[in-house]
Amino acid sequence: SSPENWRRADEFLSDVLVGHDPDLEAALAAQNEAGLPPIEVAPVSGKLLSLLTRISGARRVLEIGTLGGYSTIWLARAVGDGGEVVTIEAEPGNAAIARESIDAADLGERVAIRIGRAADVLPTLEGSEPFDLVFIDADKESNTVYLDWAARLGRPGTVVILDNIGREGEIVREDTTDSKVIGTREALQMLADDPRFDATALQTVGVKGWDGVALAVIV
Ligand code: DHB
Ligand code: MG
Repeated sequence: SSPENWRRADEFLSDVLVGHDPDLEAALAAQNEAGLPPIEVAPVSGKLLSLLTRISGARRVLEIGTLGGYSTIWLARAVGDGGEVVTIEAEPGNAAIARESIDAADLGERVAIRIGRAADVLPTLEGSEPFDLVFIDADKESNTVYLDWAARLGRPGTVVILDNIGREGEIVREDTTDSKVIGTREALQMLADDPRFDATALQTVGVKGWDGVALAVIV
């Protein structure tokens, strides 16, 4: 076992189970060309988002952290005709790239991109229909704030997915000074302690290295 083998095995799984996908590949090409960081979810994880959306029957999805729209496309396909994805992006340049890729994938009508800091945008979503699924993939320092909003904007049964909980195993280092690791660990503790959630987490290894994802349901 080695990181190189994990990467190759993940590529194999992507080839077999995801395969060639022109709209997703175009979204990644546009994102890379624009110089956005290559930190989108792995193909097999994008498909996991899609499957969780469909398994839960989610029609109204909230994404925190759009980046170039790669995961947004997975979610927007999964909500089906008449479904909707609200996705929040702090960087207007990222949002513009995402908008083009989402429209090119013919999913424009299902996706509303809200530009701004999520902490500012999330309160404006109060009072609308609850979200059925929330995917949190933004600045890790604010993870607990985003979990709180996921609970407030959801309903019992809402699925909550939190990206990047593994962080190369750094989450067990008590003396870490990495604010992303600290934010992630606080989020995991919140998922354990806050009675609004029932949660677990899985480590992942693959094209993105050693990381993981937390899954929760709102009680
Ligand atoms: C980082 C953020 C992500 O959402 C991700 O998937 C990988 C890394 C980061 O900020 O380090
Ligand atoms: Mg992520």
